[in-house]
Amino acid sequence: MALNIGIVGTGWFSKVHGDILAETAGVRVAATCGTSMEKANSLAARYPGARGFDRLTAMLDTVPLDAVYLCIPPMAHEEMETELIARSIPFLVEKPLGVDLERPMQILEQLRHKPVITSVGYHFRYKQSVAQLKQLLQGRTIGMAMGAWMGSMPGVGWWRKQEGSGGQFIEQTTHLVDLLRYTAGEVEEVYAAYGSRIVHEQHDGVTVSDVGTVTLKLSSGAVANISNTCVLPGGVAQVGLSLYTERGILAWNPDLLESREDGVTTAYSGNDNPYIAETAAFLHALRTGDTSQIRSDYADAVRTQAVTCAALASSITGQPVRVDYVGIN
Ligand SMILES: NC(=O)c1ccc[n+]([C@@H]2O[C@H](COP(=O)([O-])OP(=O)(O)OC[C@H]3O[C@@H](n4cnc5c(N)ncnc54)[C@H](O)[C@@H]3O)[C@@H](O)[C@H]2O)c1
Repeated sequence: MALNIGIVGTGWFSKVHGDILAETAGVRVAATCGTSMEKANSLAARYPGARGFDRLTAMLDTVPLDAVYLCIPPMAHEEMETELIARSIPFLVEKPLGVDLERPMQILEQLRHKPVITSVGYHFRYKQSVAQLKQLLQGRTIGMAMGAWMGSMPGVGWWRKQEGSGGQFIEQTTHLVDLLRYTAGEVEEVYAAYGSRIVHEQHDGVTVSDVGTVTLKLSSGAVANISNTCVLPGGVAQVGLSLYTERGILAWNPDLLESREDGVTTAYSGNDNPYIAETAAFLHALRTGDTSQIRSDYADAVRTQAVTCAALASSITGQPVRVDYVGIN
């Protein structure tokens, strides 16, 4: 029997996930939910037989769903996960889990009482180059890491507001924090310096910082720096994470993994689509109950959220902040 999937959110990323689902055998995008019937119906029209709704509860009351994809801005999560957990409906939720740590912690607690299958959209974990990177790290000791997400300001309005997105480090650079955790282990303490240099003078109503640098201490004893900016003009970007070991440099970016070790440079390129692998792992879990292929579930993603939120706190107080895992473990 086909799996029936609902999608909440009608923006760019709902289409990315929806199109992958629609092209997958044995899967149907059966319902869409947006902030208006017009937007929901417009997305539903992409998928044969899908129905549009303007409220999550109406969608869940009307269409029997095997799972829901939540592709909504960080500030919009509200009661959605709670509603899905109450109805025992599995969900794949896009990162970040929210604009703060408080709401994700409540949801984590609800999941403990009533577990459902979850997956979180940290898609880099599904890149073949990241599997390769993890393999290359076997037997090496990471001394330190440096990451950067240097880009331009996304066009959507919610991204520019602190209360809408949580800021670049929570909203976007979270991918690199998650990749650091995935490859180098847990983060214990952060110190962050953020600033507003350019973007608030170019656009009205910008309340997020546009530059930031975060020093991270890891449980292993390794140290890292992850910096970000959104001041660059469109079309210029630099995104990646480099790991430094006793053997050399492992430099990863979304298109290429390069190992510079023992005087030899080896490049591992890959044009695999990690979103397809991410969805395949989630669908496998829905069909079989085997969640072992899901590389980021809700509980794990809360730990990444704890690091990015600690960085925001540090940027405000000007002091180093220990990452608070109390209640997560
Ligand atoms: N993993 C990735 O590579 C990746 C890439 C892009 C976006 N994302 C994430 O996906 C999420 C959505 O991003 P996007 O680019 O699609 O944004 P978008 O602004 O294009 O779309 C967001 C949609 O959510 C809708 N929405 C807002 N509040 C809602 C609510 N309460 N109920 C239903 N719909 C609501 C908006 O109307 C809009 O249609 C964000 O969290 C973003 O970080 C992840």
